[in-house]
Amino acid sequence: MKNFERTLVTCALPYANGPVHIGHLAGVYVPADIYVRYLRMRGKDVLYVCGSDEHGVPITIKAKKEGCTPQDIVDRYHKIIKDSFSGLGINFDIYSRTSSDTHAKNASEFFRKLYDEGKFVEKESEQYFDVEANTFLADRYIVGTCPKCGAQGAYGDQCEKCGSTLSPDELIDPKSALSGSKPVKKKTKHWYLPLDKYEPWLKEWILDGHKEWRTNVYGQCKSWLDGGLQPRAVSRDLEWGVPVPVEGAEGKVLYVWFDAPIGYISNTMELLPDSWEKWWKSDDTKLVHFIGKDNIVFHCIVFPSMLKAYGDYILPDNVPANEFLNLEGDKISTSRGWAVWLQDYLKDFPGQEDVLRYVLCANAPETKDNDFSWKDFQARNNSELVAIFGNFVNRAAVLTHKYFDGKVPADARPERIDEETLAQILPIKASMEHFLENYKFREALKEAMNIARIGNKYLTDTEPWKVAKTDMERTASILNVSLQICADLAIAFEPFLPFSAEKLRKILNVGICAGKDYRAGENGVSSDNLYKAGDGAALHTCISNEGYETVLSWEDLGKKSILPEGHRLSAAELLFSKIEDDVIDAQISRLEEIRRKMEASAASVAAAAPQKAECSFEDFEKMDIRTATVKEAERVPKTDKLLKLTIDTGLDIRTIVSGIAEYYSPEDMLGKQICILANLAPRKIRGIESKGMILMARQQDGKMRFITPQEVLSNGSEIG
Ligand code: 2FM
Ligand code: ZN
Repeated sequence: MKNFERTLVTCALPYANGPVHIGHLAGVYVPADIYVRYLRMRGKDVLYVCGSDEHGVPITIKAKKEGCTPQDIVDRYHKIIKDSFSGLGINFDIYSRTSSDTHAKNASEFFRKLYDEGKFVEKESEQYFDVEANTFLADRYIVGTCPKCGAQGAYGDQCEKCGSTLSPDELIDPKSALSGSKPVKKKTKHWYLPLDKYEPWLKEWILDGHKEWRTNVYGQCKSWLDGGLQPRAVSRDLEWGVPVPVEGAEGKVLYVWFDAPIGYISNTMELLPDSWEKWWKSDDTKLVHFIGKDNIVFHCIVFPSMLKAYGDYILPDNVPANEFLNLEGDKISTSRGWAVWLQDYLKDFPGQEDVLRYVLCANAPETKDNDFSWKDFQARNNSELVAIFGNFVNRAAVLTHKYFDGKVPADARPERIDEETLAQILPIKASMEHFLENYKFREALKEAMNIARIGNKYLTDTEPWKVAKTDMERTASILNVSLQICADLAIAFEPFLPFSAEKLRKILNVGICAGKDYRAGENGVSSDNLYKAGDGAALHTCISNEGYETVLSWEDLGKKSILPEGHRLSAAELLFSKIEDDVIDAQISRLEEIRRKMEASAASVAAAAPQKAECSFEDFEKMDIRTATVKEAERVPKTDKLLKLTIDTGLDIRTIVSGIAEYYSPEDMLGKQICILANLAPRKIRGIESKGMILMARQQDGKMRFITPQEVLSNGSEIG
């Protein structure tokens, strides 16, 4: 593994058209924050960059709806998002915005260089145009009926009902979202990045060169690359965005997914105008993008191709994308309000920021989608943070005050159990390091919690409150050992639970080496003087070691005598407090109310879908429906939706092309028994002859699932 001199950590720039919710936090920001804090504790030079993504059609639509300007919208949400991040202890070195002047200049220059060097392909195509409003209709300005689930109001790029990715041409009965009129097709010119040209290089760089990337990330890249890449438009006909810096491109802006990732660079420039290049152009820098799974293609394929086309820039060393976090069993939906918003959490749970950080990390959707439930949140707080971590620290601190006047007692009479207990910590340190360096934050957190478990068990086994009745020397040793474990906890939890680690340090009366921070600009600021340099908004996570005789560091973790004999503690206080049922019930009731509304609207949609016209038994009998098994499955190249399946029908082995790629991967389908309509007239789809159709059931949320027999049947069994 290469030894880098510095690490540049970027977090997906959130769209400034709504607040941040727990799904964003679990997917991107909490893991990134843990990683950055950990690296800084290890003395690494880390720059931590984020900002608001302030372009794109949804922002202009929201502005129109609210009768204000897009700038008003992004100003509002930029502030909300920035403040809520800092409320959760997520303090980027810079949190800027893609509406900044620096960004407009930088993104423009980026485009212009590629344009001048002939790296784009110019193409004229027919796109929807609103004659009444005299404007082209990009993505979300077209609405119509979803071809997949039949929902009305689907957008030109996506159906929010069933989640399908769409193109405007696929919408049934398209209408302009601006005037409601039927749009016409009109020619327009755009610039495309010919991703197909980068395909061989991407294959080598990712498929051969980054086998260590997470399976979900690697798998998604492989699937895109195997399917074949196509040129991608990097401009749009729109008013809001960075204008395309080319003559004759009036009324055109850079596509939001072209400008947004350049925002990482612009924000670095804004913070470090004189030294930004070493972060972006030196092979000694390790670039890591934290993102959610819906951003994988942009960060692993599109943005790297842009950087490669530009030249000079480094490429990401890793892109640890998380899967999605669901809420109480259902997909988070911002439009339906099915979410827990960070700003609300901070208001409802003041002083309990770390509980959310803890639960989101313990439940992080690192390898598969995961679920957040309020009951689990309560249980993790009450039976893990309070009952294990908090309880241990409190017992150790209170007993030290009671028996030793708040001073670390001498290790007067050690016993074997002490050594055996402390010996367990060093291996935990090693495995935490391994997990943290490999982006396995859940596992790392489990290990940190094991330290608290060890401490708790030690106190339960040694019972100093009983021993104190007869043997103060032994009691001294027990509490000495316990306090060393408390110090271990203050170190191990600093990346995960910075507020509680700070509280614990206060109890222990110690400082910490938490590394270097760039919030104050160019030269970086060490933790020693952050109080002077911080921006005032988030001082609670800034660390000053002034006045502390003992300063902890990561290297101390697992060492024998971190806290010297005679070291004075401060007053004991509870690290965590129990969360009562009524608090949780209030949150659940709020969600139940939203669920009722969602169900009511789903029911009205379902009721609106009429039963099809009557058919005769003879009509039904014409259909040859059978069981079959999928023998081979692959994506149809250059399509997002099609799978080519080789099927054993019991009669023959045949090919069926099915539009299920957005619901199932080829691997999902392999070996599955399915039901097919065998005698559907063959037809050619993308040049492949498809013989038959797979029977699928459409769910209330619009998603399709295939029908499988309850037990494995012989292939070719007739259904009727
Ligand atoms: O998915 C999103 O929320 C996007 N705004 C992420 C952009 S990441 C980067 F490229 F800027
Ligand atoms: Zn749909």
